[in-house]
Parts: sequence; structure tokens; C-alpha cells
Amino acid sequence: MNNFTTDYPTLIQQIRSLTEDVPYLIANLANVSALLWQSVPGLNWAGFYCMTEGALVLGPFQGKPACIRIPVGKGVCGGAAEQGETLRVENVHEFPGHIACDGASNSEIVIPLWKNGELWGVLDMDSPHFARFTPADQEGLEQAARAIEGFL
Ligand code: SME
Repeated sequence: MNNFTTDYPTLIQQIRSLTEDVPYLIANLANVSALLWQSVPGLNWAGFYCMTEGALVLGPFQGKPACIRIPVGKGVCGGAAEQGETLRVENVHEFPGHIACDGASNSEIVIPLWKNGELWGVLDMDSPHFARFTPADQEGLEQAARAIEGFL
């Protein structure tokens, strides 16, 4: 439990309305990263890594400049990509191989994104608060991920 609340049904509706009928992938990813940033309190990074030439490559985001290329299997992003499952980390300093792009990050959630049955990339969100992301946030963000997959 923590004191952060997000209205996930509204967020998901906003993702759909913002991207509906927009045929530009980068524009949609950029707008969704901005929407997540303003709708989910307590973040210091929110954005996308896209599978490119076998690795995760930085996509549109909000927050400090971040590492450009993450091998599958490395850090939280690479771990979620390798396992094909959400990784919700309450204390990133205890996560083996965590990649510290912003030293302020203390917790993180990474959700794989799929296109035509293949891994497209990941949605990554970081927080300076320990245990920022609850099981309820995971559920809401996984639903948001399904809405994001609608335009990939
Ligand atoms: N901390 C991540 C790297 C990406 S940045 O947080 C934006 C990781 O360990 O995969």
C-alpha cells in the first residue's frame, strides 16, 4: 500500500482517444508517455524501449536522458523482456543487474508489449519512492499496456 492513486479506467480511455485514427507510431508513443507522466503520480521516468536488432532500444519517454540500448536479460527492462512477464521491483538496489539511468530511482515496473504474438518492446516506469507500484498499479498498467498494443 502507498498513498498514490491513479484512475486507470480514465487513463485507458484517454490512451484510446488520444491514439485512435492516428497512423504515426512515434507520435502515439510520445503522447502516451506524456499522458502516463501526468496521470500517474510519483514517477521520475516513464517511457518505452523497443526491440531493435535483438536488443531494447530507447523510445519516446519523459524524465532524464536514459541508456540507449539494453541487452535482453540485463536489468529490469531486459529481465521483463527475457521472461515475457511484468517485473514489479519494490527496491531496485536489490535487483541483480539493475541499470541505474537516474540515480533517483528506487522502484520500477516494466511491462512487456506484444505485437502479432512477438515481443515488441517494454513499457518502463520508475519512481524515486520505494514500493511505488502496488499489485493494483500492476493490474491497471497491464490493462493500459493492452490499450497501447492497439496502436503498435
Ligand atoms: N532501470 C532500468 C533501465 C532503464 S531506465 O530506468 C530508464 C533497468 O534496470 O532495466
